[in-house]
Amino acid sequence: MANLLATKPLKIILAESQETGEHSLRRALGPTNLITLGIGAIIGTGIFVITGTATAQHAGPSIVLSFIFAAVGCVFAGLCYAEFASMIPVAGSAYTYGYATLGEIFAWIIGWDLVLEYAFGAATVASGWSGYFISLLGDFGIKLPASLAGTRWDEFIFYNNHWENATKIVPKLKVLGIDPATLPHAHGVFNLFGFLAIVFCTLVLVIGIKESANFNSAIVIVKVCVLLVFIGIGASFLLGHRELMANWHPFIPENQGFGQFGWSGILRAAGIIFFAYIGFDAVSTAAQEAKNPEKDMPIGILGSLVICTILYILVAGVLTGLVSYKSLNVPDPLAIGIDSTGVRWGSMLVKIGALMGLTSTIVVMLLGQSRVFFSMSKDGLLPSMFNVVHPRFRTPWISTLTVGTFVAVLAASLPINVLDEMVSIGTLLAFVIVCAGIWILRRRSPDMPRPFKTPWVPVTPILGILISLAMMVSLAGLTWIRLAVWLVLGMIIYFGYGRTHSRVQRGG
Ligand code: ALA
Repeated sequence: MANLLATKPLKIILAESQETGEHSLRRALGPTNLITLGIGAIIGTGIFVITGTATAQHAGPSIVLSFIFAAVGCVFAGLCYAEFASMIPVAGSAYTYGYATLGEIFAWIIGWDLVLEYAFGAATVASGWSGYFISLLGDFGIKLPASLAGTRWDEFIFYNNHWENATKIVPKLKVLGIDPATLPHAHGVFNLFGFLAIVFCTLVLVIGIKESANFNSAIVIVKVCVLLVFIGIGASFLLGHRELMANWHPFIPENQGFGQFGWSGILRAAGIIFFAYIGFDAVSTAAQEAKNPEKDMPIGILGSLVICTILYILVAGVLTGLVSYKSLNVPDPLAIGIDSTGVRWGSMLVKIGALMGLTSTIVVMLLGQSRVFFSMSKDGLLPSMFNVVHPRFRTPWISTLTVGTFVAVLAASLPINVLDEMVSIGTLLAFVIVCAGIWILRRRSPDMPRPFKTPWVPVTPILGILISLAMMVSLAGLTWIRLAVWLVLGMIIYFGYGRTHSRVQRGG
């Protein structure tokens, strides 16, 4: 009987992470690359799209508190990730940390769970990407048939010269006083641009880690600038129009039922906009490609998280000052905010920033997924093709192509955009396990060299676990059922394949 709780000895993990040569990943990333990789993954659909509904339906101006609450949970988890990533700098991230501390079955659960974060995350973001792209094409007078704008489950409404996804545009039409029934309707077939976005990002990732990091850095500069311009224009407008401060009152709108405004609304909104922070942990999957992971991993993880937290809080504060929170139930809340200042090029700028933002999120999510599969395959829990490294590009190219194909088809043909809460719950579960792992390893191996030490253990991991659990609880019941189904599917694969092929089980 295989030992389901067998752990992988740290000695072996560390020896594997030191491997060099043409079958190993290329160590090319410095601290700046790692910070931009984190920002690349973090700033995306969350701030550009999801902030709108979370504010309008759940928190009102106190969305600022939701951003702070979610950030605090992320910082606790981020500190735990930083300790692990500097101590066990391998591509498997939370999966490998779980293998070293909790045992194989838990490692498998985390590895399988990370598919929700990285593969489903990339597919979800690609759906949003295609929405923004089609809308931008529409601004330039280019019309795309609805059949290529989404999947057969997506309904589209022809508005403003292009097809808009009905779920996103109907609230906006209501705000504008237009009856959606009076406009043409159609269904999609194949989300062409979602598909192409994934194909493009996959090819960049196959070509090289340095190339991918440079591509990501260029995009990150643009999207951070877009957010800074938003904050700058918005804040100066607010200073000149003090009467707008009325939009911040009441700061916490009166509760209208669980999760609708009041304190429970702040928590529910935190669970939703937590999506906006997802990605800093993906930096840890680049540990085997970092030049100096012991020192630079914590810088990359925590640096990107802190920068994005500050930006998000400022954006949320300015946005809810510029317009009433009630008018933000739209897919492009930042464009509505900047439009209200009278700056006409503002919404075009926001669209371009969002497109850029979403592209780099896809790149880093795909990178994370292919690296996690790379590590799982090295351990024998997945077929060996996933750990083949390209001799010239030094990337796990088969893993990258397989993940890219799967995600591209997913994004193009399934209504994946309804699954964004799955991405959040999957990520939060990984956070809980990583925080628990830090605590366990401190007790089990207190003398192991730790280049970065999480402060105040066990308080920090316990708070990380509690806040992550609180955000998980705030998510919809259906999301929990989907998570359970996903984990059961994972168990079937583990008992059908992983358990019998595991190198640890076979003593190798
Ligand atoms: N944090 C990423 C986003 O907001 C996943 O798109």
